[in-house]
Amino acid sequence: MFAVVLLCIACFAYWCWCRQRAKTAEPPSLPGAWPLVGHLPVFFGDGCKVWNQMNNAIDQCYAVGGTATINFGPITIYVVTDPDDCDTIATTCMEKDPIYEFVKPWVGESLFTSRYEVWKNDYKLLNPAFSQTILNTFMDVFNSESRKLVKEFEKHAGKGPFDHFIYLRHNALNIICRTALGVGFTDSNLASDYLHAADSTLDTMLERFIKFWWHSPYTFAWSKLKKKQDAYLKVLHKMSDAVLQKRKSELFGNMCVEKNITPGTKFKPFVDILLELSIEKGAFNDEQIRAQVDFMLAAGHETTPNALLYTMVLLGSHPDVQEKVFSEIQEVLGGNKDVEKMDLSRLQYLEAVVKESLRLFTVVPQIARKLEKDVKLKNHTLSAGKHCALLLCGLHKNSIWGPDRYEFNPERWLEPGKVPGNLVYAPFGLGRRQCIGKTFAMMSMKTTLAHVVRSYRIKADHTKMRLKYVVTLKPDNDGHYISIEKRT
Ligand code: HEM
Repeated sequence: MFAVVLLCIACFAYWCWCRQRAKTAEPPSLPGAWPLVGHLPVFFGDGCKVWNQMNNAIDQCYAVGGTATINFGPITIYVVTDPDDCDTIATTCMEKDPIYEFVKPWVGESLFTSRYEVWKNDYKLLNPAFSQTILNTFMDVFNSESRKLVKEFEKHAGKGPFDHFIYLRHNALNIICRTALGVGFTDSNLASDYLHAADSTLDTMLERFIKFWWHSPYTFAWSKLKKKQDAYLKVLHKMSDAVLQKRKSELFGNMCVEKNITPGTKFKPFVDILLELSIEKGAFNDEQIRAQVDFMLAAGHETTPNALLYTMVLLGSHPDVQEKVFSEIQEVLGGNKDVEKMDLSRLQYLEAVVKESLRLFTVVPQIARKLEKDVKLKNHTLSAGKHCALLLCGLHKNSIWGPDRYEFNPERWLEPGKVPGNLVYAPFGLGRRQCIGKTFAMMSMKTTLAHVVRSYRIKADHTKMRLKYVVTLKPDNDGHYISIEKRT
């Protein structure tokens, strides 16, 4: 009898252990792994292939419970789409994944890349540069640059499809220079070279990520890819040096700065705050200032133009939505007046359109965090030292969004209870290290769209777009082109 009881206890203990083990076991591997090289053949290729496979990975990841593993040779990457697990990781892991080291030759130790200890301090010092009071003083620039864009579009009115992305990128570069960086830029050749170098640098980073044997700085140092990257970096840094030099001479030479700003307002570019902190408190050295400027330039031109590109294409593909946006703009702004800060909060349907566009076309599709210690999730425990990617674009396709989750439906943002909550919507990232430029981006994009939509009727077909993943989500063919007709 005693032996039977002992056996039952032993069986129960074994069952509990198995259950616990299953719970804490590593997440399952996604299908398609090859011996030795793992999932490399699945992702190997250009940005389009990576984007397509990332979308497959999202579906497969949901099929196995929301968290899974992929391997590139010896490198293990956890991929997470489950909203609770993403939140746990974003709120407990403050360090950026080592993969962000690839970006450092470009943007150094900036807010985006720095270690948590450094970031905490820098964030406290620099966050005021994005306060609502300062952002409000940027409205003049948002308006004047939007009017410039409308004028540039004019030559395409009634002339068939054209690539609006080129205009949007130059426009965004001007905006970030004239606001956060405080300089009006006139050298359009430098701007074009900069945009080309930025694209090419992101391409080299993606290639390095896929070819895992170049992850180590020692092997990468010998590669042709690094030589190519170094040449592009020279162009990128030429731009940030030029911006800094110009602002310094304007500030310290007491020249008239930023002419379009209403006198008496508290216009204070991010770069002025950086320079003041470095002079008054020794908070940043020259290298650190350049790094922050480099990231501002990158963030400013790599994000909002992409989001505007997709929003315009979606509006062009949904004439009924576009007409509702137009009516709202007419109602709020009337005639041809500039958008004022109070108007922005009244453009609610437009805001819903932008939010829905960012949900469907998540400009920064994934972010990554370093696992410094084991992290316990709902059903698994992630092991310290491995890479961890949070698929923001995956959150936006979660079934909780409903059967119309692949469709463009801005109305969902206006119906109480229809949007499932913060955990499944994160175009600007998650946790404490989310986007510092979120409000800047929304204000700037809404102003641009208000000017463009009230001037032109857009036509487009979003189903023709082919997209690629190159750190941000970009168009890859001419399927994103729009046609415009002047509104009378
Ligand atoms: C549609 C526009 C934008 C999108 C979708 C976007 C998205 C993001 C995301 C997802 C992150 C988090 C990165 C991570 O966790 O690794 C981030 C960080 C950041 N973004 Fe943005 N961004 C946008 C516009 C901007 C703009 C216009 C600026 C500058 C004016 C900016 C400045 C930054 C900075 C400085 C960080 C680093 C924040 C930190 O770690 O403290 N972003 N952004």
